[in-house]
Amino acid sequence: MITLTWYGHATWGIEIDETRLLIDPFFEGNPVAEVALEALEADYIIVTHGHGDHVGDTVALAERTGATVIANFEICNWLQDQGVENVHPQHIGGGFHYPFGYLKLTIAMHGSALPDGSYGGMPAGVMIRTDGATIYHAGDTGLFASMELIGEEGIDVALLPIGDNFTMGPDDALRAVKLIRPRVVIPMHYETWELIAQDPHAWAKRVEEQTKTHPVVLSIGETYTVE
Ligand code: NI
Ligand code: MN
Repeated sequence: MITLTWYGHATWGIEIDETRLLIDPFFEGNPVAEVALEALEADYIIVTHGHGDHVGDTVALAERTGATVIANFEICNWLQDQGVENVHPQHIGGGFHYPFGYLKLTIAMHGSALPDGSYGGMPAGVMIRTDGATIYHAGDTGLFASMELIGEEGIDVALLPIGDNFTMGPDDALRAVKLIRPRVVIPMHYETWELIAQDPHAWAKRVEEQTKTHPVVLSIGETYTVE
């Protein structure tokens, strides 16, 4: 069974059978976070890019849980400098078979500087293919045409930013759905600050009207079970 829990912003907990993944764990300093950092467990932490609202609490979480952090090579090096012991570096276009499934880093059009200004390599999206489903977390990104190639992988659930300003806004995220053609889409990265505030339900209505994809709007803390 695969469940996806949205913690707000681009932060997701994905459980694949018994394995607990956390993507972009941003809790401390996140105005919409509702869960205490101490309450979280993880076997793997995945970081899409170097920005503070995505690296977030990775160092503290990795230290406490001993989770393996998956990110690009540059971010993994930086995390090791911060004391993180277990890292698995990958890079864009490269996948690896983990016990929970095949995880590939995909293109994202964005920046990736780390919080202290260090070079964070290229930003990424994440595709996770398990026996049950294929999940795509787009990371922070603008629209790009080769999202169509990601769609060719057969995406069951796409997690897409709709907040505008720093990432795709609602219009481009709708175009992204048309390129990726996932079975289900869930919007993210739109509620954290006034600057990226959007109406997810209005967006979902457009997805429903213009595509064959089923939109799901989650509240912060809510879990979606992939069927
Ligand atoms: Ni970013
Ligand atoms: Mn961001």
